[in-house]
This record gives sequence, C-alpha cells and structure tokens, in this order.
Amino acid sequence: MKRYNQRGSVTIYAITAISIAFALYMLTTSITTPADSKTTVDRITPVGKVNTGAPIIPEPAAAPEAVAAPETAAAAAAPEQSAAATPAAAKSGEDVYKSACFACHLTGAAGAPKFGDKAAWEPRIATGIDALMQTVLNGKGAMPPRGTCMTCSEDELKSAVEYMIAQVQ
Ligand code: HEC
Repeated sequence: MKRYNQRGSVTIYAITAISIAFALYMLTTSITTPADSKTTVDRITPVGKVNTGAPIIPEPAAAPEAVAAPETAAAAAAPEQSAAATPAAAKSGEDVYKSACFACHLTGAAGAPKFGDKAAWEPRIATGIDALMQTVLNGKGAMPPRGTCMTCSEDELKSAVEYMIAQVQ
C-alpha cells in the first residue's frame, strides 16, 4: 500500500507539473503568437502610410524654388486672394438673412421684429438705416452683434437689413 501511495503522489506531482507547464505555454503563446503581433503591425501600418505619404515629399523640392523666387510666389498668391474675396463680397442680403438672421427674425423669437411684419418694422425703419445698422453691428437686447454672422462684412449685413426692410414696404 505504501509503495502504491508513493507512486500515486509521484503521478499527481507529475500531472500537476505538466498542467502548469501547459498552462504557462498557453499563456505565453497567446500573448506572443507571431500571428498576433502581425495583426498589431497591420493595424498600425496603414495609418502611418496614409498620413505620412505623398504630401511631405514634394515640399522640400518646392522650398528652394520659393526661396529663389519669393516675388513670383507673392504675385501668384495675390490673384488667389482677390478671387477668394470676390465670392464673399457677392453674398446677397437674402443669403445673409437665410443663413443667420432668419433664426430669430422669421418667427419673431426673443422679441425680434418679425420678417414681413409691417407694424413691427415701421417704427424701426423710421429711425433710419444708420440707427438700424448700429443695432446690427453692436447688438441690442436679445439682438446679437452682427446677428451672429461674424464672417459677414458690414455691407453684407446692410444688404440683409435692406432685404428685410424691402419685405414690409
Ligand atoms: C438671436 C436672435 C437674432 C438673430 C440671429 C438676429 N437678430 Fe436681429 N434682432 C433680434 C432682436 C431680439 C431684435 C430686437 C432688439 C430690440 O429692439 O431690443 C432684433 C432687431 C433687429 C433689427 C432692428 C434694430 C433696431 O434698431 O430696431 C435689425 C435691423 C436686425 N435685427 C437685423 C438683423 C440682421 C441683419 C440679422 C442677421 C445678420 C439679425 N438681425 C439676426 C434678434 C436677432
């Protein structure tokens, strides 16, 4: 019996040791499998490729040209600027109204003189366009400065006022 018991415990130790070894093997392989690290690389690589691709390479080539001919670069930039300014200046009163002012003036929200409401606009129109423009530029009560259109020029805001006034005359 004693002999059997000794053999039995040896077997149990052996099984335990093998189990631990196997468990360790499973743990290690699941962490460092080549397939797994490949997936990680795959996940990272495309992002790097897309972001650091073409745009960076032409720049060093273009830089010496810009240094060699700064006047040419400035001259080339100038027409672009005026071209960009032209469509901005072309924003009509109706466009400005529809993009910024209508939010309050369409419904008369917050006590705004309602679009097309003669009675609401007449006393205001009577104060003159300059007084109205003061209100539009600086704000007054619930009327926010520039009617929330911070990118609008004074002329564009004036066109918007004239557009609203035209509806009640
Ligand atoms: C957030 C709401 C709001 C927006 C957006 C808004 N307004 Fe107004 N507006 C008001 C309110 C409220 C008043 C009335 C203010 C008062 O008399 O106390 C007003 C008044 C005015 C008046 C009359 C000013 C006067 O002196 O009587 C004009 C003109 C006007 N707005 C033009 C505009 C224009 C142009 C825009 C767009 C660029 C605009 N508003 C956008 C709320 C708004």
